[in-house]
Amino acid sequence: MTTTTFDLDHSTRRRLSYMLMDKIDEYYSSLSARAVQPPKEQRRFTYTAEPIPEQGEDPEAVFERLLNDLIERGFHISSANYLGLMNPTPTFVSVLAEALVAAINPQLASVERSATASMIEKQTVDWVGRRVGWTQPFGGVFATGGSEANFTALQLALVKLQPAIIDQGLQSLKSPAVFYASSESHHSLDKAAGMLGLGRQSLRRIGVNDRLQMDLEQLERRILSDLRNNYLPFCVVGTAGTTNAGAIDDLRRMAEISNKYGLWFHVDGAYGAAVIFSDKYKNLVSGIELADSVTIDPHKWLAMPFAAGIFLTTHPKLLSQAYGTAAPYLQTSEDCRLEDNFQISSQWSRRMNSLKLWATLKVHGRLGYELLIENQMKLASGLARWVNDSELFTLAAPQVLPSIIFRVNLRGVDEAEIAAANRAVVEEVNRSGQRWISLTTVAGRSAIRTMVISYLTTEAHLLELEGALRVAAERVINKRP
Ligand SMILES: Cc1ncc(COP(=O)(O)O)c(C=O)c1O
Repeated sequence: MTTTTFDLDHSTRRRLSYMLMDKIDEYYSSLSARAVQPPKEQRRFTYTAEPIPEQGEDPEAVFERLLNDLIERGFHISSANYLGLMNPTPTFVSVLAEALVAAINPQLASVERSATASMIEKQTVDWVGRRVGWTQPFGGVFATGGSEANFTALQLALVKLQPAIIDQGLQSLKSPAVFYASSESHHSLDKAAGMLGLGRQSLRRIGVNDRLQMDLEQLERRILSDLRNNYLPFCVVGTAGTTNAGAIDDLRRMAEISNKYGLWFHVDGAYGAAVIFSDKYKNLVSGIELADSVTIDPHKWLAMPFAAGIFLTTHPKLLSQAYGTAAPYLQTSEDCRLEDNFQISSQWSRRMNSLKLWATLKVHGRLGYELLIENQMKLASGLARWVNDSELFTLAAPQVLPSIIFRVNLRGVDEAEIAAANRAVVEEVNRSGQRWISLTTVAGRSAIRTMVISYLTTEAHLLELEGALRVAAERVINKRP
């Protein structure tokens, strides 16, 4: 069959979608045991250019081949054995919600053309903001992820500092604006500083203590020296769950310092702020409620597929101040009094990234997340205990969230040798493709990063991981001269 039109008939639509849903269902059934990727020797990273298809092909054949490539030869973040970064197995409900979003394709730019979808997004933002500990009025929008949300935070902080910046740019500032984040905070802040025209040097990276939290004395010293040197401090960024190690800054004290110097306080909780959904663990991010703005990424610990970031702020008016524009081709009728989404976001056309979280909360409730977080915290502390008791490894950071960071336990050797041993262990563990862990640098030192992020990961998966780590470390240590 040659597809000559996009308008597939009813029976083809049904046949294709049932076939695809069956495959997705089969895929989900396989995830508990699925290898993350093919064995090392079978991995291919070459790109072969193909000519653009002039004529369409039979859709069933296209999907069959695609599924074979994606599933049999792919890399599976959704596997229960994906144990190295904060990308989750999406809830099945979120997969269904995503299909619905694509089918209905609501345009969230304007409320009039997406009233139901916009209300759902508003409701979801409200739920999350209330879990932060806020009561209305607060504002927020869904974003593509933490990078966009962090960018938004810095932009609003600048607008608060100098509203004229919206029209006149950085030249409306008397002095160069600078902001503060720890040396462990995410590189999206460097990018945002560049994109905002502040320049990456405007980000003052402050050192960390042995819990990998920002050193607050150093922070105050730096603020004071910047003030003395005629810089314009405007924002402090606290991290709730660093990418490297899941460390959480002392948010309460950072809020106090920000307040003392009149600075915007942003919490980048892209990963760890998910604990606000747990009554048992939300105290880990105590002080988050004092923030002027918060980033939280449902596509990390809240088990959503990409893309889902949320930006929240207690200064909702600044959102429309920063992003409001006239759009003469968009007339809003008198009876629609709600703010259009394009007026409160850097995006114009907007995908409905909220439905998957809304639907998951509707189906599983907040208690679904309470359970997920409690279970993963328990699994992670078990793995951290194993590392601590092991002769072969030593913890490289305290375990706070379900991130367990450690190093090969080699005494009397230099940092380069430990880094090489860590790399060799990670390569060895990942060689078969069955499971995946990662390598990182924590406070300038090499470390092996493991993480419990999939709701499918159980103690059995971690026992297998421990076995693989033991074998790899023994091999690496025995190979040494
Ligand atoms: C702490 C933190 N902030 C921000 C980001 C950026 O988020 P995204 O990848 O969704 O843009 C990440 C990503 O890992 C992160 O860990």
